[in-house]
Parts: sequence; C-alpha cells; structure tokens
Amino acid sequence: MSKILVVANWKMNPSNLAEARHLYRLIKKLKNLEKKIEIVVCPPFVYILAMKQGNNGIMKLGSQDCFWEQKGAFTGEISTQMLKDLGCKYVIVGHSERRKYFGETDEMARKKIKAVLDADLSPILCIGEMKEERYRGETSLILRRQIEEGLQGIFKKQLKNLIIAYEPVWAIGTGNACQPDEAMTAGLFIRKILVKLAGRKTANGIRILYGGSVNSENARDYIKNAGFQGLLIGGASLDPREFMKIVRNI
Ligand code: PGA
Repeated sequence: MSKILVVANWKMNPSNLAEARHLYRLIKKLKNLEKKIEIVVCPPFVYILAMKQGNNGIMKLGSQDCFWEQKGAFTGEISTQMLKDLGCKYVIVGHSERRKYFGETDEMARKKIKAVLDADLSPILCIGEMKEERYRGETSLILRRQIEEGLQGIFKKQLKNLIIAYEPVWAIGTGNACQPDEAMTAGLFIRKILVKLAGRKTANGIRILYGGSVNSENARDYIKNAGFQGLLIGGASLDPREFMKIVRNI
C-alpha cells in the first residue's frame, strides 16, 4: 500500500523568501507524523533551492509546473532536469490556473507529463470540470478527455509513476468543496478510465488525489469515505496550523 499523499501547492505565495522559510520551518514540525503519510511541498520555483537546503529529508519537494524541452532558447522556462537537480520528486502539470491564465491545453500537459516521466519524476496531472460543464452534466466527458489526451502515447509502464488530482475547477479557492460522494463518483470514473488505458495492475497503483477547498474539517472524508489516496491543498497549505491539522486529521 503506498502512502497517503498530501501535496501543498503554495501557488504564487508567500511574497518573500523569509516568509517561505518561516512557513516551511513550521510545517516541518509534522515530522513526527505517522509513517503512512507523505508530504510534498510545491513552492514557487525561486524558493525551491532554499527549501531543499532547509530540508531534513522528511518532506519531499515538488514544483508547480515545468517545460517539456530539456534546454535551449525557451526564455523563462524551467526543465524537468533542472527541477530534479534541485531535489524535486513531483511536478504538478495542467493545473486549472495554468489552463485558465496561460492557455495550457491537454496536448501541452501531455508533453510535460512525458518530460516529467522521462526524468524519472512523478507528474501530478490536474483534471476537473468547470462550473458550467458540471451544470451541463459533462463532468465525465471532460475528465475522460483530459485523461485520454493528457496521457496519449505515454508508455504504459511509465504510468505507474503518475498521480492524478481530481480538482473540480468550481471548488478551487472558493470554500465550496465538492461533496465527498460527488467526488467519489468522479474518482471511481477516473480509475475506470485508467484501468482501460494502463491495465488493472498499473492503474491500481496510480494514486488519485482530491483538491479544491480542502480544510481540516473535510479532509478526512475524502480519504476515509470517498476513497482518495491523497489531497492537493492550496489555500489551507499557507496556514501552517490549518495544514498541520489537516494532516493530523486524515
Ligand atoms: P484550494 O486550491 O485548496 O485553495 O482550493 C487547490 C488547488 O488549486 O490545487
């Protein structure tokens, strides 16, 4: 059984290195937690090195994005090898904010996933429907498209390192989390598609996370009742007390 994965997505926060160090120092206190939980912190790129230096090996590091090429004239971009060199083990790919503000498509997500897997890192592919899509009853359609197009052409044997985060877009940063039973239906559907793509054995090893307004009150439900293997946490990961409560509650 792999460990429950708790991923802190700091997004573009905090606003300076001193605060980032402080936040990291506080959540490092979680080290006494049960061995069942794996905590991954995904700071902005520019803080990763400092977090690595302050790490005690308890926490893993991840990045919030990457580029698919390995080097060259791609101003502003960061390769998976660079991230690996900084000690990252995980890379978030296709987050809805990347899709919304930076025009990321499923095809771009696919190229990034391939680059992440080729570097022997674990991609966390974010998928999820928007509010209007949910109202139109298109959730399954969207999830299927995002998975199939995001994973097209990737070798089955590489998929064992994949992680999927189900993040309904309407639940992100709104305080309006998806009810566990609705999330569970989506989670089961995602697993079904993965089985088709990768075969049962590989698919069963792929962890599926829930993300979207997770807090210390609802966190446990997603793991214990809705069957998710972890959580992707935005806002609440910036509040060390709340984040520690979430981890302790699950
Ligand atoms: P949230 O963000 O926890 O603030 O809703 C989750 C995410 O965007 O990954």
